[in-house]
Amino acid sequence: MEGIRKVRTAVVGCGMISNIYIRNLKNLFYIIDLAAVANRGADAARKQAERFGIEKVMTPDEVAAADDIELVVNLTPPAAHYDIIKKMLLSGKHVYTEKMFTTRLEDAEELVRLADEKNLYLGVAPDTILGAGIQTARTIIDAGLIGEITSVQVKINRNQSLNSEIFRFLRNDGGCLPYDVGIYYIGALLALLGPVKSVSAFAAPAPVHPAEFLFASAPEDSWQVPGINTVAASLQFENGAVGSVLFDGNTISAEKHGFTICGTKGILEVGDPNKFGDPVRLTLPGQEEITFPFTHGYDGRSVFSPPEWFDGYGSRGIGVAEMAWALRTGRKNNRCSKEYGLHCMEVLTGMEKSAETGKPYAPKSRFIMDPLQPGHYSGSAAFRQDAERSLI
Ligand SMILES: NC(=O)c1ccc[n+]([C@@H]2O[C@H](COP(=O)([O-])OP(=O)(O)OC[C@H]3O[C@@H](n4cnc5c(N)ncnc54)[C@H](O)[C@@H]3O)[C@@H](O)[C@H]2O)c1
Repeated sequence: MEGIRKVRTAVVGCGMISNIYIRNLKNLFYIIDLAAVANRGADAARKQAERFGIEKVMTPDEVAAADDIELVVNLTPPAAHYDIIKKMLLSGKHVYTEKMFTTRLEDAEELVRLADEKNLYLGVAPDTILGAGIQTARTIIDAGLIGEITSVQVKINRNQSLNSEIFRFLRNDGGCLPYDVGIYYIGALLALLGPVKSVSAFAAPAPVHPAEFLFASAPEDSWQVPGINTVAASLQFENGAVGSVLFDGNTISAEKHGFTICGTKGILEVGDPNKFGDPVRLTLPGQEEITFPFTHGYDGRSVFSPPEWFDGYGSRGIGVAEMAWALRTGRKNNRCSKEYGLHCMEVLTGMEKSAETGKPYAPKSRFIMDPLQPGHYSGSAAFRQDAERSLI
């Protein structure tokens, strides 16, 4: 990889998830040169710069104006995404954003058009779909081991209202369970089965939540997580498969997640799509279920020491590195692409629309996603560049 110019990158948004991103972007990927961090309040950015040894602390406006920054990683809460992404695109920066893309579908559509007009790369999380688990599942499906996919079933539950005591941004648009967590399931479904043709759903709002713990100092006595917090949806995929989705944010937080894909020749149990390396289990007729060996790297295990409390957030940042390689080599970024981000969002907002109108919703957006190249692993920091070859 010697001689390849690294992509000079800035992170905007130095909150909770920035820990794993900054650590990984600084140390895990050759292609990224993490040069600056920025935050609305400069203290948070200064703290992260000191902790992780980042050269510059900037304001978001300074990032937009900096000639030497090519790529901006947006880690602000969903309600701030549209403004930050637009500002950076208008300043000629390539952008990778955390999920949700935006809080309104029309805003995401506008940003896709803007990036196209300006010929800029725009990437969207979740990038857990590039982890060892989902990429191995994709390899199994593409190899025909479970035949034609007939149906899928996914589910996740949490107490989203209780979680919003700690993660305050969940009280704003984009904070309901389907948008905050369900998106990992929708992202993985899209990565494995392709675009959705039609969505039908029933949904319920979150209850008004009386303050229970208030870990963060907060004046509110009660609030309501906005949007559809519990949804039961049916999906029809373009490839002919049908799917059943259950997201329940109004129950307890003991997660009982599920992700089953049935095909004409076998059944695949995909692990938690919010993780990078949950086991993938294959059942073929008349045989015991087996755990399939991973065909790809980035299984989410930390290759750094000492252990950190945020290690469980895994290989976050692969999506940024994959897009940076696309930028340097001049190919399209058709993994965590803006088209994928938009379709994720349209499927989720389609559930909301269908629940409101009582009619199926047909998403207009489409995307194409190439799998990563198999056969590259990431066992230790010293050999991390082997796995990075799968991103080129
Ligand atoms: N918390 C998680 O477990 C988690 C996991 C994966 C992804 N995410 C996503 O990452 C993003 C950030 O989540 P978080 O948990 O780090 O949130 P957070 O609230 O801890 O941090 C967000 C940071 O962005 C800053 N900020 C807000 N508006 C800004 C603006 N306009 N300009 C510059 N800085 C601004 C805040 O000051 C804060 O430091 C969200 O999109 C979320 O969906 C969160």
